[in-house]
Amino acid sequence: MPAHRPSLVPLPTHLAHRPGHFTLDAHTTVRVSPGAGPAADLLRTLLAPATGLPLSPASDGPFVLALDPGLGGLGEEGYGLTVGPDAVLLRAAHLTGLLRGIQTIRQLLPVEALSSTPQADVPWRLPCVEISDVPRHGWRGFMLDVARHFQPVGLLRRYVDLLALHKLNVLHLHLTDDQGWRMPVAAYPLLTEVGGRRAEPFPHQGAYTREELTGLVAYAAARGVTVVPEIEMPGHVRAAIAAYPELGTVPGRRLDVWPRWGVCDTVLGVHEPVLDFCRTVLDEVMDVFPAPYVHIGGDECPTTEWAASPAARERAAAEGLPDTDALRDWFLGRIGAHLVERGRTPVAWAETGDGLPADFTLMTWREPEHTRLALKRGHSVISCQHRSAYLDYPQSPAPDEPLAQPGVLVDLRAVHEHEPPTATGTTGELLGAQAHLWTEYVSTPEHVDHMVFPRLCALADRAWHGSPSWPHFRDRLDAHAARLAALGVRHGPLDPYAPIPHCSGKELP
Ligand code: ACM
Repeated sequence: MPAHRPSLVPLPTHLAHRPGHFTLDAHTTVRVSPGAGPAADLLRTLLAPATGLPLSPASDGPFVLALDPGLGGLGEEGYGLTVGPDAVLLRAAHLTGLLRGIQTIRQLLPVEALSSTPQADVPWRLPCVEISDVPRHGWRGFMLDVARHFQPVGLLRRYVDLLALHKLNVLHLHLTDDQGWRMPVAAYPLLTEVGGRRAEPFPHQGAYTREELTGLVAYAAARGVTVVPEIEMPGHVRAAIAAYPELGTVPGRRLDVWPRWGVCDTVLGVHEPVLDFCRTVLDEVMDVFPAPYVHIGGDECPTTEWAASPAARERAAAEGLPDTDALRDWFLGRIGAHLVERGRTPVAWAETGDGLPADFTLMTWREPEHTRLALKRGHSVISCQHRSAYLDYPQSPAPDEPLAQPGVLVDLRAVHEHEPPTATGTTGELLGAQAHLWTEYVSTPEHVDHMVFPRLCALADRAWHGSPSWPHFRDRLDAHAARLAALGVRHGPLDPYAPIPHCSGKELP
């Protein structure tokens, strides 16, 4: 029988097919080396619903999960996988590497293995392979905006599983914005009670409980995914100011949770109690999210309110700043220092003329030149240019596409061909790449799926493998789409339109 050759996404860095296969059945036992227990647990958890296989532990089991310090050269996430006719050997220096290898094993099995219901009469065969696999980038992320449209924690868990399937390792949650505040903070209950609801143009509300978020963090950790929280400041804060008007620039002014999309003029005041508020909020955020990184926003911060505020002008002068425009970097610098003192790394959106301390990690979302600039300034950088990583933009000009953010066309190929810019002779480090779903126009889980997939598969392929070719990815995608379907993902088009090369990444009429 010819060997079945599964199409893996992302593509492993070294993959050799061998003749034959290994069959998993009710008698297959698993030999687990000390420390590899959580990987065996994940293997059973992922395979049990469809296969019903017990995969019981046994000291002489032919299916081996081994932590092996000798593979330290493969780094935190690298792994080696050998499937032979009589044995399977998955090895890594670190537990995270084993978790990545388990996702490869999942993709090597017949697609029915991904089903959530028992599948009768499927031979659970793994084709014989030799794989040695190491990611190109250490940060391979996806951001979901749950502020514009709230999504229940069940969707977040499902997305953690989908990220893990694609060996993506960061779920970045955009938890607060002008239109909604979704993170509970014990000291400020009105943030979610008032800031978590908006009345117009349609009533919309939602907030997580602390238990939901801590549960999500643990669920993600078991799959090798880190949840990075984002609390926006000093702009994109209208929901917080609707809850606590004293946080604003105009004392006594009452504002609603913003019912519109776009950039809102409302910004935080720069008086000391506002900084105390931010520090208290972030202390609770750090309690809930153990991630080494905490994102504090910083994008699209209009300075008109500060320029009009005597108190803000006084503050700028007292701090020795040239003008009120400089308050944005000053504000982020003060709050970033609070995070650094507590052992965390602050993350911010890179704007055009950043003057943030070099210990900020920057997400460069505007133009490639900003990635080079940030690297030159010594920042660690996550590349997420809107022309190739904004999944709220249309993926196809087809008239029957669901609503998308007006902007450039970000088709599947543009995402797959996104190459993070580099700069030579810099002290900064390119950490990796990330795609984003802003949700002004996306409210239902079906619409989220449609916008995110298959484009996120393309980002995962590029960020893990580094140089996969477009035609090879497109070939692999047909089989991979069957996996998405088995997982209930209502993905967008695989061929968004007859390719018109000049259209990719350009403005749409
Ligand atoms: C952004 O898209 N405003 C980061």
